[in-house]
Amino acid sequence: MSLSRFITLEGIDGAGKSTHIEFIKEYFEIRSIPYILTREPGGTPTGELIRDILLRDEMSPITETLMMFASRSEHIASIIRPSLEKGLTVISDRFTDATYAYQHGGKQVSSETISSLKSLVQGGLEPDLTLLFDLPIEISGERLNKSRVLDRFEKQDSTFHQRVRETYLMIARKNKDRFKIIDSTNTINHIQNEISVILDNIYQ
Ligand code: TMP
Repeated sequence: MSLSRFITLEGIDGAGKSTHIEFIKEYFEIRSIPYILTREPGGTPTGELIRDILLRDEMSPITETLMMFASRSEHIASIIRPSLEKGLTVISDRFTDATYAYQHGGKQVSSETISSLKSLVQGGLEPDLTLLFDLPIEISGERLNKSRVLDRFEKQDSTFHQRVRETYLMIARKNKDRFKIIDSTNTINHIQNEISVILDNIYQ
């Protein structure tokens, strides 16, 4: 059986995704499971240029949505599909659930618009597993304020982040087979154990 899988990592800004990515990388390294870690927006030279613009410049919600999918289209064609075909596990730090959460939930772009762009760009491609790092926005907000210079999305107000969180949780409830919700209020050790158990179920 091929071990190639498409795994995505999602969550509101400040939910601790970056901390756990290091642990996930180690999980694959230690077991010599071939994988590629990539991200959206970004993941390709064109996508990274699009990312810089997206995180910096003000634009209309629909332009933002189109640019997310422009980056995704490149990413799928030149990284995700070829890597899966070669038998690698693809771990993407964010994917289309983020567009529903941020551009639909956060910025009120219609879900029909996002769905039609999704079918244009993705066809039938869907993640096999999505880890959703979930945290109350009061805590994620505190974490963000303590950290680095904030980008355009991180600077949005708490009602925006609340809508993003609720949309993620709603998508997770509707897609129980694909989603695992990780409670990011737990300790790092607890979360790492939880991630190991989830991945062991796939790779052992
Ligand atoms: P990151 O900080 O997790 O790398 O993600 C960059 C920002 O881009 C983050 O605030 C979420 C946002 N984003 C969207 O708004 N829509 C999308 O489709 C994706 C992939 C990310």
